[in-house]
Amino acid sequence: MVLLVLLAIVGAYATALWTLENLIVPGVGILWRSIRLRKKSLRQRYGKWAVITGATDGIGKGYAQQLAAKGMDLVLISRSKEKLVKVCQEIKAATGVEIKLIAVDFSHGVTVFDNIRAELESIDVGILGENDRFFSRLASEFTSSTCLQ
Ligand SMILES: NC(=O)c1ccc[n+]([C@@H]2O[C@H](COP(=O)([O-])OP(=O)(O)OC[C@H]3O[C@@H](n4cnc5c(N)ncnc54)[C@H](OP(=O)(O)O)[C@@H]3O)[C@@H](O)[C@H]2O)c1
Repeated sequence: MVLLVLLAIVGAYATALWTLENLIVPGVGILWRSIRLRKKSLRQRYGKWAVITGATDGIGKGYAQQLAAKGMDLVLISRSKEKLVKVCQEIKAATGVEIKLIAVDFSHGVTVFDNIRAELESIDVGILGENDRFFSRLASEFTSSTCLQ
């Protein structure tokens, strides 16, 4: 009888220890981290700048407006300089964030990345939003060609 009670106590202790180590401590950790993350702004979470391609129309423009409204500074990339300036003025007037513009035509191929890289080198890019139909394909070509050098 005493042995049974002892075994029950040891079993209960082991189960409690396992639950604490494997469920409660990690669970509380995850909960705590997600609460802390939610309190942080996009800038604090990812960095100061968001780079948006295809930023002068449609999805890209909407994306740029939303990110600026959340306090991100923007690098807007598109083909037409006039449209870039117009969108820049609109977003600046609405939000006051800092905005850089890069006018490039992605249909010219990977050479446009020299220009983009020079513009982005000195800034802390936290978010990249690709909203044109060329960028991701070109970016992968660019990465493979630079890796081969
Ligand atoms: N809208 C949809 O329902 C939908 C659905 C599924 C997928 N998509 C895809 O999502 C992407 C964006 O769609 P959207 O409707 O927002 O397009 P959109 O309104 O036509 O806007 C396209 C943007 O990409 C830029 N762009 C186009 N060609 C370019 C080039 N050669 N070099 C640099 N920039 C260029 C345009 O700039 P400029 O005006 O200065 O040329 C513009 O800012 C597209 O790839 C589209 O296929 C859209």
